[in-house]
Amino acid sequence: MELVVERDYPTLSGVAADVVADVFREKSDARLVVPTGETPLGLYRNLADRKDRGEIDTSRLRVFQLDEYLGLALDDARSLYRWMREVFLEPLAIRDHQVTWLPGDAANLSEACQAYDRAVEQAGGYDLAILGLGPNGHLGFNEPPSGADAPTRVITLTPETVSSNARYWGGEDRVPRQALTAGMKQLLAARQILLLVSGPRKREILARTLQGPVTPEVPASFLQRAARVTVITDRDAMPAPVSLREV
Ligand code: PGA
Repeated sequence: MELVVERDYPTLSGVAADVVADVFREKSDARLVVPTGETPLGLYRNLADRKDRGEIDTSRLRVFQLDEYLGLALDDARSLYRWMREVFLEPLAIRDHQVTWLPGDAANLSEACQAYDRAVEQAGGYDLAILGLGPNGHLGFNEPPSGADAPTRVITLTPETVSSNARYWGGEDRVPRQALTAGMKQLLAARQILLLVSGPRKREILARTLQGPVTPEVPASFLQRAARVTVITDRDAMPAPVSLREV
């Protein structure tokens, strides 16, 4: 695991964009799984600027959705798919046929999850998993406890996640209690994983992710055992005692 500590959020976003742009250059048909949430927004803006300047080609990428609330249609303004479309897919000119989504309104959810896992497998797995870190250690919506083998599935959100996401919904009572999440197994098997962590709110859980016991109670702790993981954080999120390589 490589740990990169940046001075602030804008720098973190630029360095993350360098890593992602390198992947696009090396493999123009890379398979990516990308997160929603606030942390990756700077990265996405940075990539969109590079796209506008003609520095990256996104026409052959394949994108997989990381998570979705249950019961919302794809075009529902509150769906994570809509969020992803607004902040990532459209600014990067990624078209619908390049995207495999998690249908939160599927009639048969377990079949939809299996179909998603099959699609990832048939694509040869993820080349790059870009992930954020939940305040409870979740990756996507792999809530604690989630084991390293967990497949794509329906999950009940923990009270901590419901309360953390209430800001997007105008109150806790409006947040859906269930979601679909890409599974731990395929995320951990990604050829490259980029974990983005920003702000003091993540300090404690980042320490447990990097140094704590590897446990389903902190799903992100399984990253300690994954093949090629780069954690990019800003100083605000940095737990003091960790030895680090500053760039
Ligand atoms: P955030 O969300 O980027 O909005 O902090 C991360 C997460 O909950 O996975």
